[in-house]
Amino acid sequence: MTTASLPDNAITAHNVYKLYESKTKRYALDDFSLTIPRGSLFGLLGPNGAGKSTFINILAGLVKKTAGNIHIWDINIDSDHREAKMRIGIVPQELNFDPFFTPRAMLDLQAGLYGVPPQKRQTEALLHMVGLTHKSEAYSRSLSGGMRRRLMIAKAMVHAPPILVLDEPTAGVDIELRQNLWQQIHNLKKKGTTIILTTHYLKEAEELCDRIAIINQGKLIADKNKHELLQDIDHKELHITCTKSITDIPPALKHFEAQILDSHRIQIRYTPQRTPIGHILEALQKTDLDIHDITTHQSDLEDVFLKLTHMNDDANV
Ligand SMILES: Nc1ncnc2c1ncn2[C@@H]1O[C@H](COP(=O)(O)OP(=O)(O)OP(=O)(O)O)[C@@H](O)[C@H]1O
Ligand SMILES: [Mg+2]
Repeated sequence: MTTASLPDNAITAHNVYKLYESKTKRYALDDFSLTIPRGSLFGLLGPNGAGKSTFINILAGLVKKTAGNIHIWDINIDSDHREAKMRIGIVPQELNFDPFFTPRAMLDLQAGLYGVPPQKRQTEALLHMVGLTHKSEAYSRSLSGGMRRRLMIAKAMVHAPPILVLDEPTAGVDIELRQNLWQQIHNLKKKGTTIILTTHYLKEAEELCDRIAIINQGKLIADKNKHELLQDIDHKELHITCTKSITDIPPALKHFEAQILDSHRIQIRYTPQRTPIGHILEALQKTDLDIHDITTHQSDLEDVFLKLTHMNDDANV
């Protein structure tokens, strides 16, 4: 396939609704629209029950949407379900597989299900990719949790899909394996795979993703480049620790957003674009504070996430 014939977007979803039970009338996806650019490493974030897995399970064909349109690689999932399925590999949040198969047999079987002929199968390469070559003949039930998750990633890739979806890929995975998985995810991206992942580890989204969408109560509440999202709440905090106890904010700091944190610490909140740190440092020199240490704290995704979900709640009041 030439680049010119590739679609701009890996996934487009328009006005998707999902109602699991008509009695409850609470939509798991509520007029949900999202575009995932081809080649991106896309993070889908949101609190428990937000609708992330529902969306992913609809992409996987495991859950039927109530309304709306979804295209995978420009293919409508309703009118050409089989073709759409060939373009995507999904590792679901809940891992279920036959414990009596070996990893090698499982990958072969899965490739067979996708109609990949034996000479085109990538079983060994996939086992190597997820670091399970040494376990290729072990019963899958004897694999550790992290190994199972890695096996599921290999299983989702047997038909070499251009899109890989990972629903909480590192849940329950130890730090070393997590780093290893991150590396594999980066490698896949470098090869041009579009990767969509959900995570509750905000550091993970910050580390991996180039674009992030946030879902809350079935609705899309943010969809931005990671850095833009962070700039949205572009604030920093400066913590000044003093050797002597502080009783009052010094006059030179009064026109900053300063407050006493405890007997020895003052906090100044500032927006770097509006208040260069140099101005604060100049003001600090005009005080008689006996400064022991200064540290800065920057907002991370957790702050962005809390802020956006609360803004959304406020808007619904
Ligand atoms: N099979 C189901 N039957 C009925 N309701 C369901 C079903 N699956 C999910 N839900 C409901 O749909 C909503 C969205 O759930 P979903 O699993 O998509 O959330 P999530 O964002 O993946 O959450 P988590 O972070 O906990 O994995 C929740 O209110 C959940 O209770
Ligand atoms: Mg989920």
